[in-house]
Amino acid sequence: MSISRAADILRAGGLVVFPTETVYGLGADATNPLAVARIYEAKGRPQFNPLIAHVPGLAEAEQHAHVHEKARALAEAFWPGPFTLVARRRAESSVAELACAGLATIALRAPSHPMARELLAAFGGPIVAPSANRSGHVSATTAQHAADDLGARVDLVLDGGACPIGLESTIVAVDDEGVATLLRPGAIARADIERLVGPLAASAKAEPVTAPGMMESHYAPRASMRLDADAPRAGEAYLAFGAPAPAGGATLSASGDLVEAAANLYAALRGLDSTGAEFIAVAPIPPLGLGEAIRDRLMRAAAPRK
Ligand code: TXA
Ligand code: MG
Repeated sequence: MSISRAADILRAGGLVVFPTETVYGLGADATNPLAVARIYEAKGRPQFNPLIAHVPGLAEAEQHAHVHEKARALAEAFWPGPFTLVARRRAESSVAELACAGLATIALRAPSHPMARELLAAFGGPIVAPSANRSGHVSATTAQHAADDLGARVDLVLDGGACPIGLESTIVAVDDEGVATLLRPGAIARADIERLVGPLAASAKAEPVTAPGMMESHYAPRASMRLDADAPRAGEAYLAFGAPAPAGGATLSASGDLVEAAANLYAALRGLDSTGAEFIAVAPIPPLGLGEAIRDRLMRAAAPRK
């Protein structure tokens, strides 16, 4: 059966693409530095970015990180689910240092997707997995998108259908003093986190994305993008919100539903790209709830390419 085959491939140091509730992950044995290095090679990543280690739950996470009580409250509320905790790494953690890019901290997440959970159970250890896309492309939300991007660079693709959320996890760092910082807006809205731990500190990384050098064009389609556009100009394909797809364009959500828009975001960008559109204009997305994360990804996609 494919889950046990996938676990065998991980044990042998291979790469397995697997579905999570957010986006597809490109998985490897977190404790095997050679397997971790293969991830960077397969993604074509310019640098060794730190990776998220996926675990079954809080008990396993505590083997790898010093978990402050505020972090525990977040993990208990949102795990399994689209929440990633960054906390001080334990000296005795079995996760390869390469996976943490030499940082003193480690990122941990317990995914809720049944196939991801089956894989974690069958493998029996932490699985590091970045999003299953080549560096500079948008995240894959279907097995086909992941296979299109990574193809022969991976040993197995587990197909669990379209990812139900379609947007990466929310990343929050909680330090030893209990200071919580939002590192990446994502599938859990800021307000739901602040309800539990109070206002989130501003991250140095969360500077306005217009600042030069801050822009990792991680989420970019090939086309040039213009945001907060009430209507397309000549030559632009239009990505609508709160209105049906116009001719030659697409819609994130005809009814203006932000959850539906998050689920459709990457497939819509890929779809417009595949039409050969050179310019994409995107309708205004309100900065509420999941709108914060959707706007963050769109701003990255729209930023000048390096
Ligand atoms: O939803 C998700 O989070 C997906 C699924 C597959 O779990 N994963 C994902 O991984 O989006 P990736 O590698 O595309 O993004 C992980 C982000 C990167 O921006 C990385 O810099 C950050 O997490 N990160 C990882 N470890 C960190 C650390 N110790 N400190 C700060 N940021 C960290
Ligand atoms: Mg990614």
